[in-house]
Formats: sequence, C-alpha cells, structure tokens
Amino acid sequence: MTNVARSVPAADKAIAYKNVRERIDALLVGDLDWIAAMATVACELHNAFDYFHWTGFYRNVDGKNLLIGPYQGGHGCLHIAFDRGVCGAAARTRQTQLVDDVDSFPGHIACSSSTRSEIVVPVVTPDDQLLAVLDVDSDLPGAFDSIDQRALEDLCASLGTMFGTART
Ligand code: SME
Repeated sequence: MTNVARSVPAADKAIAYKNVRERIDALLVGDLDWIAAMATVACELHNAFDYFHWTGFYRNVDGKNLLIGPYQGGHGCLHIAFDRGVCGAAARTRQTQLVDDVDSFPGHIACSSSTRSEIVVPVVTPDDQLLAVLDVDSDLPGAFDSIDQRALEDLCASLGTMFGTART
C-alpha cells in the first residue's frame, strides 16, 4: 500500500513543523491557561497536516486515569485508564508511543475504526509531573516517523515547562 504520509519529503515535513511551531509559539503568549493552550495546540496541529485525523489531549486526573481534553476530529473516548491503550502506555511509561499499526498494539482502543497508526507523547513538567498526553491518530498506516516524534516531543516539553503548575 502506498504510504502517502511517508512520501512527503522529510524537508517539507520539517518545514511544516517549523511553521506550525512558530504559529503555536506566537499564540501561546499572555494570559493563557492550560485548557486554552491545549485547545490552541490541537487546532493548529490538526489543521497543519493532512494525515492527522484526530489530534488532542487526554489529561492526567489522578495518576491512574486520563480524561478527554481539547481535541479536533471525530468523537474521542472520554476516559482511559493508565493500564489501557496506547494513551495509557504513554501515561504509565512517560515515553512516546509510536505505533505504525494499531492492530498490532495489544489493548489499542479503537475510538475510530479508520485509525491505522498513532503517536502519543506525554506532557511532563520539569518537576516530573505528568500533565497530559498528546494523541495524534492517522487513517494511514505508519503515518508517523522520527520527524513527527522529535517535533511533537519538543512541543510537549515546552508545554510541560510553560504550564507546569496546571493540574486540571
Ligand atoms: N487509540 C487510543 C485511544 C484514544 S483515541 O484513539 C482518540 C488508545 O489506544 O489509547
């Protein structure tokens, strides 16, 4: 099967991430709270890449459970325990989960039957608190690569630093 996402030249993808990051950085200034920031990031990312079909955050509410946060795309499941799914694995391990084929990930939660691949990046504060995870799903298999991973991890690291005192 042709993988459209990976046929995007790496340089173009990197430029797209540079551009969207500049927009996000310009927007996340002033009197903003964590919810406003998550909503802005989800919107900007989702509209910057054709191969993102669901883009959003799940918030860490009690160290064991994630609850849906701001997102773009179709309906997302509301609650994910840390011991479930790709998002739970990212929350539990605090490591990015890059899944080329969701069917091969044990316990993957199919919010949309069209999802083929997924990347989930934890948002961690400098004092090691997990705020949320950023989840991006694609209808294409193997849509995400090391360029996506690096750019999204860099963004989430900045969010963790900027909103390190938010806990909701
Ligand atoms: N696929 C995710 C669940 C969230 S939705 O896809 C929006 C998971 O397995 O954690």
